Amino acid sequence: MTKDRVLIFDTTLRDGEQSPGATMTHDEKLEIAEMLDEMGVDIIEAGFPIASEGDFRAVSEIAMRAKSATICGLARANYKDIDRCWEAVKHARSPRIHTFIGTSPLHRAIPNLTKDEMAERIHDTVTHARNLCDNVQWSPMDATRTEWDYLARVVEIAIKAGATTINIPDTVGYTAPVESADLIRRLIAEVPGADAVIFATHCHNDLGMATANSLAAVEGGARQIECTINGLGERAGNTALEEVVMALKVRGDIMPYETGIDTRKIMAISRRVATVSGFPVQFNKAIVGKNAFAHESGIHQDGMLKNSETFEIMRPEDVGLAGTSLPLGKHSGRAALRAKLKDMGFELADNQLNDVFVRFKDLADRKKEVFDDDLMALLTQNESGDDRLKLKSLRVICGTTGPQTAEMVLEIDGEDVATTATGDGPVDATFNAVKALFSHGARLQLYQVNAVTEGTDAQATVSVRMEEDGRIATGQSADTDTVVASAKAYINALNRLLVRREKSAPGHDTKEISYKDA
Ligand code: KIV
Ligand code: ZN
Repeated sequence: MTKDRVLIFDTTLRDGEQSPGATMTHDEKLEIAEMLDEMGVDIIEAGFPIASEGDFRAVSEIAMRAKSATICGLARANYKDIDRCWEAVKHARSPRIHTFIGTSPLHRAIPNLTKDEMAERIHDTVTHARNLCDNVQWSPMDATRTEWDYLARVVEIAIKAGATTINIPDTVGYTAPVESADLIRRLIAEVPGADAVIFATHCHNDLGMATANSLAAVEGGARQIECTINGLGERAGNTALEEVVMALKVRGDIMPYETGIDTRKIMAISRRVATVSGFPVQFNKAIVGKNAFAHESGIHQDGMLKNSETFEIMRPEDVGLAGTSLPLGKHSGRAALRAKLKDMGFELADNQLNDVFVRFKDLADRKKEVFDDDLMALLTQNESGDDRLKLKSLRVICGTTGPQTAEMVLEIDGEDVATTATGDGPVDATFNAVKALFSHGARLQLYQVNAVTEGTDAQATVSVRMEEDGRIATGQSADTDTVVASAKAYINALNRLLVRREKSAPGHDTKEISYKDA
């Protein structure tokens, strides 16, 4: 059977990074972009160049480095945004400008434009973008709540002005699969010129229907799916790349469409995005959750031993999970570690490998067998040489009789400082010690602990989310000692918050731009 090709447009670095707390560093963005490019993503939306100097630099550098993906930047419907976007993406082998404006009644009210004024703005801005770049995507934000007549009218205007891709966003995750298919089908059938452009679908997950809506849109004629790794994104997130890609692969019998994605790279990028964004993947998440291929009950295990297809509709290997994996131990060397990480989809530079090797040896001294998940947890440790706060030592006294006490030495801006603090339990005492040494007004929003593998020597991964004056940062760490992991995750979140605090200080650029300037 010949299959229609569906383009995969990944917006992890733009829409995904908009999730509160998911800010990534410049180097992390470059790394994720490289992984997306290597796995065969057709278009990478690398950021929103006008939003900040940092976004502009990231989009420009990703554009320069991309080997095969088209690199796209986002721009509101004004010349300044579009010019800035072009300045960043023009370095790419294949650049794209993505410009958008909110077209539903609620969104039209924000810039306070009449329907006619907005139509004129769309014509002018798309024309301007097309004069700069041959590849222009236009989106009517909140398309699924826009009146049909007006939507059809502005889509036609954008096509006539030179848009080559028309994206139909379900910005608030409101649509349902039948509507999603019908809307695209009707636009293609009724809008003059629609047959000459590609229609795209961009679904948010507020009702948990994003993936189903995206696949339905493909049935309706869309040939570009916008998505993010792990479904990262505003509120409940976006369509998850791994879900649509695997659904098309596994159910090719009823959905005869193919993508260019190398699915064996899915697990590695999923885990890397979880780490750098600070958003852990829920255990029962489709495709990439820890339990997605785990079989607990006797009946299931028995069935699996007889024939894995009894309870699995895809093979773990298809998404990059090694079928059988031999654990490493304390005698394993650098070459074995490098080979194992490569198997898991990570090709580290020498200095990165050295850093992970030191942590691997330290872990192997404390834990008999180091499994793939342990290594993944090691990779989640986001400590960087530039961190202002570093944990030097921690000793905690806890038990049935309190008070629980933490003795801590922190390095702050290169100087060691020490304290002893008490608290309601060992973690509280530890966090109080950090606060005593480094006073801050950040509020703890989330504290979450997960065991990485089985056994009492299992590592714990801890995620901590902190908020200060509307800025949010997430930290993660792993250790066989849960309290140490907690301390490191807390300090990691604080370090990230400090970077954000500096970036939003007067004189520095900020990301707080509004859609009003659209
Ligand atoms: O959800 C949305 O409408 C968007 C647009 C900017 C395309 O992300
Ligand atoms: Zn979106």
